Amino acid sequence: MSDLLQLEDFTQAEGEMHRPTLVERKSVDYRAIAKNVGRIGVGKKYHIKTYGCQMNEHDTEIMAGMLEEMGYTAASNLEEADFILFNTCAVRENAEDKVFGEIGRIKPLKNRNPELILGLCGCMAQEEVVQQMVAKTYPWVDIVFGTHNLHRLPELIDRARHSQETIFEVWDKAGDVVENLPKLRKEGIKAWVNIQYGCNKFCTYCIVPYTRGRERSRLLEDVVAEVKELAAQGFKEITLLGQNVNDYGIDLKAYDFADLLAACNEVAGIERIRFTTSNPWNFTDKLIATIARCDKVVEHIHLPVQSGNNTILRRMNRGYTREFYLDLVKRIRQAIPNVSLTTDIIVGFPGETEEQFEDTLSLVEEVRFDGAFTFIYSPRAGTPATRFKQQVSEADQKRRLQRLIELQNRISREINDAMKGETVEVLVEGESKTNAEFLQGRTRTNKIVLFQGPKHLIGQLAQVTVTEPQTFYLKGKLVTSGEEMAV
Ligand code: 5AD
Ligand code: SF4
Repeated sequence: MSDLLQLEDFTQAEGEMHRPTLVERKSVDYRAIAKNVGRIGVGKKYHIKTYGCQMNEHDTEIMAGMLEEMGYTAASNLEEADFILFNTCAVRENAEDKVFGEIGRIKPLKNRNPELILGLCGCMAQEEVVQQMVAKTYPWVDIVFGTHNLHRLPELIDRARHSQETIFEVWDKAGDVVENLPKLRKEGIKAWVNIQYGCNKFCTYCIVPYTRGRERSRLLEDVVAEVKELAAQGFKEITLLGQNVNDYGIDLKAYDFADLLAACNEVAGIERIRFTTSNPWNFTDKLIATIARCDKVVEHIHLPVQSGNNTILRRMNRGYTREFYLDLVKRIRQAIPNVSLTTDIIVGFPGETEEQFEDTLSLVEEVRFDGAFTFIYSPRAGTPATRFKQQVSEADQKRRLQRLIELQNRISREINDAMKGETVEVLVEGESKTNAEFLQGRTRTNKIVLFQGPKHLIGQLAQVTVTEPQTFYLKGKLVTSGEEMAV
C-alpha cells in the first residue's frame, strides 16, 4: 500500500470520529450572569491587541464594551495602559510566534508598573500547549481565558488584582449562547453581527473546531433585534459572522441561513447585508435564490475552495469535489449575474504534488475569482494533517504561493480593468488612510473605491464612475448631482 493510500484511509477514519453531535444549549442574558464587579476600571486605561479574523475583531469590540462599562477608557499606546489584552489567533503558526514575541516585550512594562494586568485570550488560549508555555515561560501573564468564556472578563480582572499567580480559566466546551453583551463598535457605518459560533467541519488542517467548539446558532429573533438596534443607531451595513454561515440554524432545526437573510432584509434603514464565511458544502439553491432576491444582500460571496485537486480536497476533508465547486459557481453566477467571488486557498498541503498544485491554478483560471487570500499550509498541533506523510518543502511551498499570487493578481487586475467607465454605488466609509485628499468606500461587491468628494458624503451612498482601476482598488470620479455641485 502506498503512503498516500494509507493517508487517505486515515483521513476518512478521522472524519468518522469527528461526526458532529448536536449540542443542547440555551441563550442566557449577560446582565443576569455577569457578576457585579463594579466600576473598578474608573481612572484606568486598557489596550487590546487583536490578531486574526473578523470574529476576533468583533470579540474585541465586545470585550472593549465590557471594559468601558467597568469604567476603563482606551489607552492611546501600550505604555499608558493598566490592562493589556492579547486577543489571539491560532490558525497559522506565525501569528502565534508574533504574540509570544509581544508578551516578551511587555515584561519591562510589568516591572515598571506592578499594577499592570496582562491578559491572553482568543484561539491560542484554548490550546493546551500554549497554556503550558505561558505557565512555564511567561509567568508574568496574569489571566488566560478562552473563546467560550470571554463574558467572564470583568470577574477575571477583579480576581487578578488580588492574585500573585496566573489565573487560567479556559473552558474546553462552549456553554450557553450569551446575549446582550455590551459592544463598543468603532464607527457608525458598518457593524459586525455574530450569528453562529464554532465549526463542525473538521478540515484536517484546521484548528478552529478545537478552539471554537461545535456550531451554535443565535436565535433568529435575537439576531434581528440586534440588526434593528443597529439600524436605529444609524448603521448602514451589517456583516453577519460565523465560521460556516450557511450552516446557520441547523442546530435549532426551525429555520436556516436563507430565512435569516430574508428576515434581515426587512429591517428598514440597513442598506447592505454582507456575510462571511460560507462553505461550499451546504450552499443550497434556496440560499442562492434568496441572495438573488433580497435587494440589501450584496453581490459578494466569499467561498473558500482551498484546493483545485480532488485528492487534496478529500485529504483536507472538505466534503466536496472540484466539479461540485465549479458547478456551484455556475449556479451562483446564473442566479446573481454580477456576483463577485473571493476565496481562500492553501498551497503546500502535505502530499501536494506539482500536478495537484497545477489543478489549483487551473481552477483559479476557470473561476476567475475577484480576489483570494492565499496561505502556505501551517501544521497545527492536534490536527490530523500534522501526522500526514510527505510534508512539502518550504522552498516548494513558497514558489507555489508566488505563482498563485501572480496569477490571482493578474486576474484581479483584468476584472477591475473591465470596470473602467462603469458607475458603481459606493458606501463612503471615510477619508483614505493613505491620502486624505480622497474619500474611501466600498462597492456592493466589496471593492475599495477612492475618489474626491465632499466630506458630508461619509456614511452615505454615492455614485462613482470608475476611472483608474488598480489591482486592489478602483480610483473613480464622483457622479455629481446638482446639489453636490453647489457644495
Ligand atoms: N494552514 C494554512 N492555512 C490555514 N487556514 C486554516 N488553517 C490553516 C492552516 N493550518 C486558512 C484556510 C481558511 C483560512 C481562514 O485560513 O484557507 O479558509
Ligand atoms: Fe476550519 Fe473553515 Fe474547515 Fe471549519 S470549515 S474546519 S473553520 S477551514
